[in-house]
Amino acid sequence: MKGIILIGFMGAGKTTVGKLLSKETGLEQVDFDEEIVKEIGMTIQDYFALHGEEAFRERETELLGRYLNHNKIVSTGGGIVLRLENRELLKQMAPVVYLKTKPEVFIPRLKQDQSMVRPLVVSKTAEEIKAIFNSRIPFYEESASLIVETDNRTPEEVVEEILESI
Ligand code: S3P
Repeated sequence: MKGIILIGFMGAGKTTVGKLLSKETGLEQVDFDEEIVKEIGMTIQDYFALHGEEAFRERETELLGRYLNHNKIVSTGGGIVLRLENRELLKQMAPVVYLKTKPEVFIPRLKQDQSMVRPLVVSKTAEEIKAIFNSRIPFYEESASLIVETDNRTPEEVVEEILESI
């Protein structure tokens, strides 16, 4: 079986669904945020503060290129679709699954999540976070070969739909 690439906004469940997909398929999971943290030796928040967002995006692009032909379950970071270059890479990596989640669901989740500080949302209002999400919707839709709604569904149900549909 080919790998599966998960895309979607912060708090959409890419890491959780990726772990379950890995269990179900036996394919190894790679979490891009975790990989980058290992490589940079600091938190993403510190990296943004020291080197800026563009340097982080450069690392994401480089990582995506490295995983082009790996049959793995890849949980990407929410901003992977921002660069045209990455969107084109993603299309060569199908199946790319967009985990589609409403702001009403992911915003409270982001506020509660203590596991990682996300520099782009940390001091933002709900309206500002929604605006970032809205600006990215076309990029998620354009990059996806499959769109799966995650609201009101368990990660298990989401995984079942992905495996039935790809
Ligand atoms: C980002 C999403 C984060 C992380 C970074 C930037 C984004 O990953 O890569 O904070 O721009 O959407 P998650 O989507 O895993 O939270």
